[in-house]
Amino acid sequence: MFDLDRIRENFPILKTKMSGQPLIYFDNAATTLKPLNVIREVERILSTQSVNIHRGDYQLSYDISNQYEEVRKSVAKFINAQSDEIVFTSGATESLNYVAYGLEHLIEEGDVILTTHTDHASNLLPWFEVAKRKNATIEYFELTPEGRIDLTNLNQQIHNKVKVITLVHVSNVLGYVNPVEEIIELAHQKDICVVLDGAQSVAHLSIDVKKIDVDFLAWSGHKMCSPTGVGVLYGKKTWLDKLRSIKLGGGANAVFDENGNYELKSSPSRFEAGTPAIESTIALKAAIEFLSGVGMDQIHAHETMLKDYFLSKIQHFNHIKVYNLSTDTGIVIFNIDGIFAQDAAAYLSSKGIAVRAGNHCAKLIHHVIGVTETLRASFYLYNTIREVDVLVEVLKEITLEKCVDLYI
Ligand SMILES: Cc1ncc(COP(=O)(O)O)c(C=O)c1O
Repeated sequence: MFDLDRIRENFPILKTKMSGQPLIYFDNAATTLKPLNVIREVERILSTQSVNIHRGDYQLSYDISNQYEEVRKSVAKFINAQSDEIVFTSGATESLNYVAYGLEHLIEEGDVILTTHTDHASNLLPWFEVAKRKNATIEYFELTPEGRIDLTNLNQQIHNKVKVITLVHVSNVLGYVNPVEEIIELAHQKDICVVLDGAQSVAHLSIDVKKIDVDFLAWSGHKMCSPTGVGVLYGKKTWLDKLRSIKLGGGANAVFDENGNYELKSSPSRFEAGTPAIESTIALKAAIEFLSGVGMDQIHAHETMLKDYFLSKIQHFNHIKVYNLSTDTGIVIFNIDGIFAQDAAAYLSSKGIAVRAGNHCAKLIHHVIGVTETLRASFYLYNTIREVDVLVEVLKEITLEKCVDLYI
């Protein structure tokens, strides 16, 4: 059962205040709040087991290494993968950089990398760089007027020069769930590798990598209730074996000599050079247990219910324009007539409400929605109808004068 009161009791930060008002946190697409079991896990490790993994020949190190490897199993189970297909990184950005630079050696002059105008900088910039270095070309999926991938000409869009398709699974601006199964099926018929940026999907939807048959999936722990500093790169074993390691160092090599010869370990270890964020990674397992305990389908249902409720309330406000009325998730972007998004966000902050304002790191989004700056409210499992009501009331009475008054 989805017990909202119990869920909220697990997030101590919800009892704190911002600007003297009870905190209403609607910036979940940026990062999520942390439940008690995650907080306690970090505290437990730092107070009783803060030693290194895979290096020490003593009991504490054996214990923490085992716990670390248990997280790999837990992550694998969460997305229906094998443990040796799970690489720990520092976050979605690092995972996506690993894939782009790790596949660079397979990209040839004239190859096409296919992506979308709705993608995040972390998925576009590494590929822009690879394309530049290899004289490859970036192409973009055609979009419908509302900004969804247009499936009508899919076969022409995924043509025979396309080498890699890399796209966001759920847009962090529009909240649309991209039709990845159709894309992946067609891509695989043409031997094209498909990379998914799952930063906004893994934390909100039930994901089965075998079912969608994706080749790589990248995401961050902090967007699913774990601490910052840990991310995941899932790769099919066959693809991980083709991926070059771009981070070399201790823990990833099997042997090296003074002539510069070295051999790397097998994956996933060969991608995990250096000391990782041990406590954050172990706490990721606690976060997965928390979310799984609630149920991913229930979480998605709750977020979309809040989104529907919010839209039903603000849709008729003449001074508010929503850009993604048909959003599939808990992400809503909008603007208030005559008020710059950042000023509106600062006003909402004065009422205890945290939302994001700006381009949301998806700087090509203006090609889709026609503006560069928007407000974004993004809901998660601990948000309530009452909180949405508070936001709606503030939006009802917001004026430019009130925003300006903040600065006087
Ligand atoms: C769609 C998407 N991709 C990638 C990222 C980058 O995630 P991180 O900053 O955790 O590496 C984000 C973060 O906002 C995102 O929303």
